Amino acid sequence: MKKVLFILAALIIIAAPTMAFHDEGVAHCNGCHTMHNSQDGALVDADSPLGNAYLLTDADPSDVCIACHDHIEHTLGTDPLAPPALKGAGNFVYLLEDNLNDGHNGALNPIGGDAAGHNLAAPGHGIAPDATLTSAPGGTFPASVLGCTSCHDPHGNANFRFLYGIGGVQDGLATFTNPAPDAEGLSMFFGSESQTSHTAYQGGMSAWCANCHGDFHQEAGGRLEHPSGSTIGGSVANTYNLYNGTIDQLGGVQATAYLAEVPFDDAANTTAGTAGPTAGSQVMCLTCHRAHATSAPDAGRWDFSVTFLHEDGLESGSYAIPDPYANLNQRSLCNKCHNKDAGDVNPF
Ligand code: HEC
Ligand code: HEC
Ligand code: HEC
Ligand code: HEC
Ligand code: HEC
Ligand code: HEC
Repeated sequence: MKKVLFILAALIIIAAPTMAFHDEGVAHCNGCHTMHNSQDGALVDADSPLGNAYLLTDADPSDVCIACHDHIEHTLGTDPLAPPALKGAGNFVYLLEDNLNDGHNGALNPIGGDAAGHNLAAPGHGIAPDATLTSAPGGTFPASVLGCTSCHDPHGNANFRFLYGIGGVQDGLATFTNPAPDAEGLSMFFGSESQTSHTAYQGGMSAWCANCHGDFHQEAGGRLEHPSGSTIGGSVANTYNLYNGTIDQLGGVQATAYLAEVPFDDAANTTAGTAGPTAGSQVMCLTCHRAHATSAPDAGRWDFSVTFLHEDGLESGSYAIPDPYANLNQRSLCNKCHNKDAGDVNPF
């Protein structure tokens, strides 16, 4: 019996990784909170001599997170032209861009970095709420308070990336009615997104985004909208699986057709998976967008305004999103599901 207990104890110790901070639960409180705003006689949050709302180490919750997440796999980053490794959500550094417009005459008609994705109330890192959008399009969530803890539970939970599920967020500021998505992510410390190492989106992403974006992009909403959270059907699945780029539109096979730049929800997806969709897979919000930000307007996974992907970054001078097919003829990745590419050789 003693021996069994000893083995159990050893297993528990081994199971606890030494590097984890959040550790799928509540991290040590003083990583983010300060009880007296004083340590060694100095203010912990020098900007708030009179204290702040949640006894935080910085008055703005997002600045608290960025204090670590500017170096822990760089959720922010410092130079929008030299972004940190891509994990899945994309880096907030593109919010610091002065122009994202790579459409015709884009150099003369700048689209500011606030269109790169979700803006944050993080004045300590030079990031402010969106200058154009005052609330979530399709919903009512106010842009003025959008930050890391609008989406992630600072106290941890069992969900994918500690995303909030049904219930209150940001100390009751809003209430989510849809659960957290089913997904598996890459390790926080190693590697970056590739075709064999990527977030495995398994279900519920569109419903989760709808917590703030309401009926946005839902067919049932009565808007002029692209489907999201809907099954793609046999013909679109076939097109995706055959499509292997503008110069090889019918050469793909289902077993290796997965493109990390154009993902879909499917319960069978794995982080190393290369299989393309089946009829029951779903097109979802993150098929076309990234959750944090990208160097394209509207947080596009690719720039929606260029004809050839290699034109990305040319007009605007912003970071060029890599073309997964690395070919000068490559056109929009919408073609992965709807082959309307040069020559239009889609048999479906
Ligand atoms: C990763 C950062 C982080 C850690 C670690 C953390 N907190 Fe918090 N906590 C926050 C933030 C940010 C808020 C402000 C509310 C929000 O933005 O969601 C907050 C708010 C609170 C609140 C008030 C609102 C509420 O949700 O009840 C309490 C109480 C609290 N924390 C206690 C704790 C305790 C106790 C611990 C340790 C067991 C802890 N926190 C660890 C970031 C953290
Ligand atoms: C004291 C440093 C520190 C602070 C402050 C901090 N983090 Fe982290 N965070 C880490 C480390 C280290 C990891 C990777 C290991 C882990 O998951 O615990 C991480 C991982 C994460 C992950 C990925 C978890 C996973 O493995 O899937 C999320 C999401 C996250 N942090 C969000 C936040 C948010 C939101 C805040 C602010 C409320 C915050 N962090 C504040 C250190 C920090
Ligand atoms: C907690 C609420 C919240 C959630 C959850 C949320 N959003 Fe948003 N979103 C907002 C707000 C507020 C804005 C407008 C302010 C801004 O752009 O920073 C916005 C703006 C956007 C924009 C436009 C960015 C721009 O500046 O043009 C896109 C695209 C977007 N969201 C996509 C998504 C997707 C995809 C998801 C799910 C992965 C999602 N959102 C989840 C609140 C949310
Ligand atoms: C609008 C909601 C939203 C906001 C705001 C947000 N996140 Fe995320 N975050 C997500 C989603 C969704 C994912 C998973 C994306 C994926 O894998 O495609 C994610 C992933 C992550 C990861 C895992 C690594 C990665 O890049 O995929 C970390 C760490 C993280 N977020 C930290 C943060 C921090 C720190 C902030 C604030 C500076 C923040 N998030 C703000 C929704 C959000
Ligand atoms: C993951 C697959 C996928 C991607 C990527 C995708 N779509 Fe779709 N799209 C669908 C599905 C599924 C439908 C609904 C079934 C259909 O009409 O073929 C649809 C429908 C449409 C329709 C309406 C067609 C009709 O007959 O009413 C248009 C237009 C469209 N998509 C354009 C786009 C554009 C533009 C892009 C790129 C920004 C894009 N799609 C990316 C899967 C996708
Ligand atoms: C087929 C690709 C595709 C899918 C799927 C998709 N979007 Fe979009 N989204 C776009 C494009 C392209 C734009 C640029 C504006 C436009 O074309 O209407 C955009 C723009 C947006 C904007 C900015 C609107 C504004 O007024 O600035 C938000 C917010 C947004 N999408 C959220 C979502 C959410 C939430 C979902 C899932 C429910 C979703 N998108 C699914 C392609 C897509």
